[in-house]
Amino acid sequence: KRAEADEVVGMLSGNLEKIAEHGRRADGIVTSMLAHSRGSSGERQSVNVNAMVEEALNLAYHGARAQDQSFNITLERDLDRCAAPIELVPQDVTRVLLNLFGNGFYAATKRSREAPDAAFRPALKVTTRELGNEIEIRVRDNGTGIPPFFTTKPTGEGTGLGLSISYDIITQQHGGTVEVDSTFGEFTEFTIRLPRVQRPASQAVIQSPRGA
Ligand SMILES: Nc1ncnc2c1ncn2[C@@H]1O[C@H](COP(=O)(O)OP(=O)(O)OP(=O)(O)O)[C@@H](O)[C@H]1O
Ligand SMILES: [Mg+2]
Repeated sequence: KRAEADEVVGMLSGNLEKIAEHGRRADGIVTSMLAHSRGSSGERQSVNVNAMVEEALNLAYHGARAQDQSFNITLERDLDRCAAPIELVPQDVTRVLLNLFGNGFYAATKRSREAPDAAFRPALKVTTRELGNEIEIRVRDNGTGIPPFFTTKPTGEGTGLGLSISYDIITQQHGGTVEVDSTFGEFTEFTIRLPRVQRPASQAVIQSPRGA
């Protein structure tokens, strides 16, 4: 009896530790969301883009599962092992990724609900590529696609601000680009490119003593 109780207590405290950890992460993301909506921006840090993608994917997936126990999707990863560290504002780019993953999950789930084809399996694929002076992140889902005449989620399901803020974070804050390719009823693919050098050389020199 005593041993069993100890085991359960051990398991519960392990779970609590995980909950606390995810809570802290969520807190960081919310803080950065608020900072962004206030117009101030977080600090750039040198990050491993693959680790950032992996963490955002886990957060998005478990977040979606928490909201809907029946949620399921095949996640594919094609992460460039040669991806070198890049300086960016990790919380803000994570926020962009969370939105793209969330949108992809939503669209793929929607298609599977509406698809007459029982063999359809929702899937989302993330690809990273080291391009030397920039890093590319692709997010592709086999969902509904973006209709030729743009529709949005039913009122109340989203703020609809996700993509416009995502676009700002990538283009204004990081000097990158966002492209979208979609075939209605088949797929949607977003491609983000984040440049390595976005400061004038003089400033880069001042900042460089931190080392590579
Ligand atoms: N991967 C996708 N597949 C199909 N449609 C998409 C996809 N991504 C975005 N969309 C369309 O673009 C709309 C706007 O997306 P956006 O992320 O800006 O807002 P939202 O997801 O509706 O709300 P929020 O992100 O604030 O929760 C979506 O509602 C959807 O109609
Ligand atoms: Mg969204």
